Amino acid sequence: MSLTQFAAMGLLVGAGAVGQQSSIVNTVHNLSASGPGAIRAATEEQVCIFCHAPHNASPVRPLWNRAMPADNYLIYTSRAFDAEPGQPTGMSKMCLSCHDGTIALGSVISRDDPILMSGGITSIPAGIAAHIGTDLRDDHPISFRYDSSLAAQDTRLRDPVTLPHEIRLDANGELQCTSCHDAHNNAFGNFLVMSNVGSQLCLACHQVGQTAVTAHQSCDSCHQPHTAPSGPYLLHQPTIAGTCLQCHDGSVPGAADIASSLESLSIHETHSQVDPDGDPVTHVSCADCHEPHTMLNGAGVAPAVHANFGAIDGVSASGSPLQTATTEYEVCFKCHADGAASMPWIGRLIAQNNTRLEFATGAVSFHPVQGPGRNQDVPSLLPGWTTSSVIYCSDCHNSSVAPLGGGLGARGVHGSAEEPLLAARYDTEDYTGESAQAYALCYRCHDRNSILGDESFSEHRKHIVGEDTPCAACHDAHGIASHQGTLMNNSHLINFATGIVLPNSQGRLEFIDDGLFAGTCYLQCHGENHSPERYPDD
Ligand code: HEC
Ligand code: HEC
Ligand code: HEC
Ligand code: HEC
Ligand code: HEC
Ligand code: HEC
Ligand code: HEC
Ligand code: HEC
Ligand code: HEC
Ligand code: HEC
Ligand code: HEC
Repeated sequence: MSLTQFAAMGLLVGAGAVGQQSSIVNTVHNLSASGPGAIRAATEEQVCIFCHAPHNASPVRPLWNRAMPADNYLIYTSRAFDAEPGQPTGMSKMCLSCHDGTIALGSVISRDDPILMSGGITSIPAGIAAHIGTDLRDDHPISFRYDSSLAAQDTRLRDPVTLPHEIRLDANGELQCTSCHDAHNNAFGNFLVMSNVGSQLCLACHQVGQTAVTAHQSCDSCHQPHTAPSGPYLLHQPTIAGTCLQCHDGSVPGAADIASSLESLSIHETHSQVDPDGDPVTHVSCADCHEPHTMLNGAGVAPAVHANFGAIDGVSASGSPLQTATTEYEVCFKCHADGAASMPWIGRLIAQNNTRLEFATGAVSFHPVQGPGRNQDVPSLLPGWTTSSVIYCSDCHNSSVAPLGGGLGARGVHGSAEEPLLAARYDTEDYTGESAQAYALCYRCHDRNSILGDESFSEHRKHIVGEDTPCAACHDAHGIASHQGTLMNNSHLINFATGIVLPNSQGRLEFIDDGLFAGTCYLQCHGENHSPERYPDD
């Protein structure tokens, strides 16, 4: 602003309610004694003087009348953050000269003594919303160049050449407090430069994607631009889960109750801090499975990624990172494949916790997650399932009270009463008495009558009912990796549990596939020596 302009401004102030003055007078930025806010001068009648002065002012444009605060701010950061701002600059420092709370409101350069404020207030007190403080780690980032190259680096940012005229970057192309706020004009509330109804202010710069979930369409469902409890990502609660569970705890009609699932015995522990230290694989958040900005309603058809996962990232069947997963298992592979997050649940002859290798379509035998299974003779399959079926991890790992099993609870891999996060009961202890409940998980897809009717393995009933042997003693529910087993020894998901099945007296522990519904076993179990035993004959 030129001096002539400033003189004109002075005239306006003297002349009455027009221009800048008309807009600022009725706002809380009118700190004069006649201002409308709680924070105002005891007697001072000038409006502009708290920020501007015609002479004796600092050389900073626009004839700024305040000392600049010291550079001792803590700066916003997050793992996803691309810009690298330093200490606040330019107009942001002007705002902070009041809003960080370190400088007295009435302390202006043009006066020797500070202007006296009413009620004994000196600076903006801590604890009120307007107190931004010197810790800017929980505020929208400021004072960095927002240019086309930043937008090219972060494709979820719009190119700033498309900014609506209300939103201005400073002369250095930097985003400042004044990109979102106009200290003189409170027409839209909070001195915003434009309305943020429908998140239009946020969307002027961010293009985070489309969601069909109505309750998620407003950024402020989850985010707040200042003093955000999460710090990184500016969320309403310290954690991502906490932010989601504000609604998904049974309190909001239509929002599925996930909080109660998370109180189950076996859970994904989603309550870690945002951007936790250490390997991301060892921490789970809602946003690891549901991309917060692109969720649609509803599930999918296996193996397709669920609509309600949105455009979530993953790891492919071959182990490469994917920006957008197209199947559910690719999402799980982020943490349960290479460098897996959890230990094998059951000790087996062949140990493996890389589910990517266990379910590979080239694996020795496997449940059909990545593609249809190998076996064309699975007589136990219930109607709805065939040897061409593909199933989800979440067909077996789900809430035990989900509709899948006839319950009324929310579906999803959040928590279950059955370990390890199983959709239904699956007893794996030796000497389990057979019942429809004990192996409810398997009996959802495999006909109990067929299994106990010995339609494939002629000794199923003898072992399961006669000997109280759990399915898990013989079967690995996942699969046997191609480099570990052989078609001869590990077809039909045979991978003995070493806590139950022992080597026979010759030290041999082996299954041999002898063709359709035929095989040979060398082992010792429940004190019985198989040296060997054959089916269907023996
Ligand atoms: C609470 C602080 C504050 C008060 C009070 C205030 N201003 Fe400002 N003013 C600013 C800030 C910050 C800027 C620079 C940022 C901007 O341009 O939005 C500014 C810039 C200006 C400019 C230059 C605008 C431009 O586009 O370059 C004019 C003119 C102006 N103010 C006039 C006034 C007048 C007249 C008053 C009194 C009626 C007044 N201001 C009161 C904070 C204030
Ligand atoms: C004037 C443009 C602009 C407006 C308006 C804007 N932002 Fe931003 N925002 C940015 C830029 C640029 C970044 C820096 C992104 C980066 O470098 O990764 C950013 C960063 C963020 C971040 C931190 C991202 C990270 O990677 O950690 C969040 C969260 C955010 N904005 C949310 C919002 C919300 C919510 C709104 C609406 C209240 C909003 N923004 C309005 C430009 C804007
Ligand atoms: C001279 C000190 C001063 C300066 C400089 C100043 N403010 Fe304020 N601001 C205040 C005070 C005092 C309040 C009222 C706080 C209250 O009563 O809760 C306020 C309130 C606000 C509010 C809340 C409005 C509302 O409706 O509650 C916003 C937003 C705001 N200021 C933004 C800014 C921005 C952005 C800048 C810089 C462009 C700025 N302020 C510069 C003193 C200042
Ligand atoms: C990216 C946009 C953006 C930037 C940059 C930004 N703000 Fe805000 N600010 C907002 C929005 C939006 C609100 C309204 C929040 C709401 O409705 O809850 C707000 C609210 C405020 C408030 C009112 C209190 C509160 O927390 O709601 C103050 C004070 C404030 N801003 C000051 C500042 C200051 C000072 C800066 C620079 C250090 C700044 N803002 C930078 C968008 C921004
Ligand atoms: C349902 C809650 C929710 C809503 C609604 C939401 N976000 Fe987010 N947002 C999040 C969470 C959670 C994260 C952290 C993501 C992570 O860790 O992967 C995030 C991260 C971000 C980031 C930084 C990460 C990145 O990839 O750049 C930006 C920017 C952002 N959100 C902007 C917005 C904007 C703009 C809106 C409104 C259009 C919005 N968000 C709406 C929950 C939400
Ligand atoms: C402001 C409240 C609110 C917040 C916060 C919120 N949600 Fe929602 N969410 C809802 C409501 C209400 C629905 C259902 C209504 C609808 O689909 O529009 C829903 C639907 C969903 C769905 C879709 C279910 C389906 O298949 O139809 C998913 C998944 C979801 N939310 C996950 C999340 C996650 C993850 C977060 C945190 C990042 C979150 N929500 C934060 C209110 C919220
Ligand atoms: C971001 C990493 C991550 C992703 C993605 C993930 N998990 Fe997990 N999962 C974990 C961690 C870590 C544990 C250990 C329990 C905990 O601390 O949450 C776990 C535990 C489990 C358990 C229980 C195992 C035990 O030993 O208790 C099952 C089952 C499981 N996850 C299945 C899945 C499925 C199915 C998917 C895909 C839909 C999936 N997980 C996606 C990290 C992840
Ligand atoms: C046919 C049902 C079924 C399917 C499909 C399935 N699981 Fe499992 N999963 C189980 C059972 C049962 C266990 C308990 C251990 C056992 O029986 O060997 C288990 C154990 C686990 C464990 C605990 C650690 C371990 O390896 O024992 C994790 C983690 C896990 N599954 C993740 C997954 C992931 C990821 C997928 C999809 C890629 C998946 N599961 C698909 C049934 C299944
Ligand atoms: C390990 C992956 C994973 C994590 C982590 C996860 N979810 Fe889910 N979520 C799922 C799966 C799988 C579904 C079921 C998809 C389907 O069948 O529709 C689901 C479904 C949902 C639904 C819809 C439930 C219904 O019945 O309508 C909501 C809401 C939801 N999740 C919210 C959350 C929230 C909130 C968090 C964090 C506390 C979270 N999810 C964490 C995998 C996950
Ligand atoms: C969601 C449905 C589903 C569930 C639950 C399920 N299965 Fe399966 N299972 C299938 C399908 C489909 C096939 C056929 C795959 C093929 O053709 O190779 C199959 C095949 C098998 C096979 C034969 C594999 C081969 O290569 O010969 C065994 C053994 C088996 N299941 C055991 C179990 C056990 C034990 C459980 C309980 C832990 C279980 N299944 C749970 C769907 C399921
Ligand atoms: C003592 C070891 C053993 C136990 C215990 C066992 N199975 Fe099997 N199962 C086998 C063998 C061996 C085969 C292979 C039969 C063949 O040659 O095709 C088989 C085959 C199967 C098949 C594939 C063919 C079919 O029948 O559709 C399914 C499914 C199956 N078992 C499920 C189960 C379930 C469910 C349980 C527990 C309720 C269980 N098995 C317990 C050894 C066992």
